[in-house]
Amino acid sequence: MDSAESPAGFALTVCADSAEACERAASLILEQRLGAAAPLPLGLATGRTMEPLYRALAVQVAALPPLRRQAVLAGWESFNLDEYLGLPADDPRSFAAFMGRHLVAPLQLDPARVRLPNGTAADPQLEARQYGQTLRACGGIGLQILGLGLNGHVGFNEPPCAADARCRVVDLSSSTRLQNAEAFGGDPAAVPARAISLGLAEILAAERILLVVTGAAKAQVLARLLHQPPSPQLPASWLKQHPAVTVLADQAALDARG
Ligand code: GLP
Repeated sequence: MDSAESPAGFALTVCADSAEACERAASLILEQRLGAAAPLPLGLATGRTMEPLYRALAVQVAALPPLRRQAVLAGWESFNLDEYLGLPADDPRSFAAFMGRHLVAPLQLDPARVRLPNGTAADPQLEARQYGQTLRACGGIGLQILGLGLNGHVGFNEPPCAADARCRVVDLSSSTRLQNAEAFGGDPAAVPARAISLGLAEILAAERILLVVTGAAKAQVLARLLHQPPSPQLPASWLKQHPAVTVLADQAALDARG
């Protein structure tokens, strides 16, 4: 990546593999949680990229001295990016259930401190507005962790997406429903058609952003991201307008032939 293609605040860190990217991300999360007396909430993501990241985080938390471990757990406050519409939190395919399995249970967190939009709210538009308001009332995001969709989405901000889009109800593209079909018995039609997602506005308001991109399947979209200027067609490209973004990418994702 040369500086003509990417602004100074958008830094690429090359990692050997997903394990190294996840170790680094987990360390940065702990640095953020322990770096201030009252850190702003974390912004969290779901998806396959995040599974080894949350495992690495659990290992690093377990290795902390007791008082520091207690500080991380007692002071926990996080907001997930998104949730499918129509799935209750106890449906194993919901993002709430994903967070329960991969973060709340391993870290023994208070589930009330790991927030997600309510996918079964009677009025989803109102739920989306209120979720965005609750986040603002908590001061916004301190460190935002992001994965990257194959079509360039972050959260569920599907292309085309403006940089000032706020938390809202979104329609999922057929490519995203296909990408996420694994959790729905391999059937893209079984993947909910709509979701609530934080927008680029809330994401870009974070103090710092970590985008984790691993695996050969992401090579094409990562190459587009590294080389293209910001545009609605590639929602993740708006991150180039943020002053403090780190892209943690593994070799497989950087191989443009992938
Ligand atoms: C999903 C989520 C994103 C996630 C991305 C990548 O649909 N809404 O938050 O980061 O797509 O998913 P994965 O890590 O499984 O490739």
